[in-house]
Amino acid sequence: MKKSFMSKKHKKHVIKGMFSGISPNYDLANSLTSLFLDHYWRIKTVDQLDIAPEALVLDLCAGTLPLARTLLSRKRARVICVDISLEMLAQGMQKIKGNSKARIRPVAADAEFLPFHDEMFDAAMVAFGIRNLTALDKGLAELFRVVRTRGKVAVLEFSRPNLPVFAQIYHLYLKRVLVPIGGALTGDRSAYEYLVDSIYQFYDPAQVIKLMEEAGFCNVKCRALTGGCVTLYYGQKTPKPGRKG
Ligand SMILES: C[S@@+](CC[C@H](N)C(=O)[O-])C[C@H]1O[C@@H](n2cnc3c(N)ncnc32)[C@H](O)[C@@H]1O
Repeated sequence: MKKSFMSKKHKKHVIKGMFSGISPNYDLANSLTSLFLDHYWRIKTVDQLDIAPEALVLDLCAGTLPLARTLLSRKRARVICVDISLEMLAQGMQKIKGNSKARIRPVAADAEFLPFHDEMFDAAMVAFGIRNLTALDKGLAELFRVVRTRGKVAVLEFSRPNLPVFAQIYHLYLKRVLVPIGGALTGDRSAYEYLVDSIYQFYDPAQVIKLMEEAGFCNVKCRALTGGCVTLYYGQKTPKPGRKG
């Protein structure tokens, strides 16, 4: 991962402001720039959790709540959605319909300092969030702390395809299609330039797995989706050695 010269506090402030600014058209831009593949990627993510009915699930960096909506369209669960941007959460809540309203709670908070007690959640999920954290180790440590023992975690994040020709096409697509379209739809071209930069600066899948293991998760594996444009990471919180349960 390349070093940034912006202080962590300032970067967090900039990221929060950027997402708040693009929140009204975030979902539309997301679907169009991903050629509607984002829905398929989120389905894969929620299915990975394999949760029991009525499970309490954390959706971290929840944004406009598309991952929580996907989960509730497939499973009967309760979801607490955390995001640092109140505007993103507010946009998302407007899209929650019917019975789902009682099953979703938005919480404006920093993923690196979660306002929840230990082992509160049956499972946790994150889509396109960890890349934005200024201290990924802290975010993963918090994720580990709030998930119960034996609870599962699924993390979806952009990655870079390895196949030479496909990687070149993907690179051109990001620069020539995603940036102009995302910029035009949200009125903030720089947010999509940030997106592309952050994809190139982010860790490789092997490094992400190592960081998740260092946070305490076990059996961490990953699965490349759509030729490696995104990667789904998953693992479990297993009991500490010597502890029953
Ligand atoms: C790319 S969006 C992803 C939203 C949603 N999960 C999805 O699937 O589209 C990243 C989200 O992470 C949030 N975020 C960034 N830094 C954060 C932090 N430190 N704590 C909580 N949320 C954060 C942003 O506000 C933004 O809504």
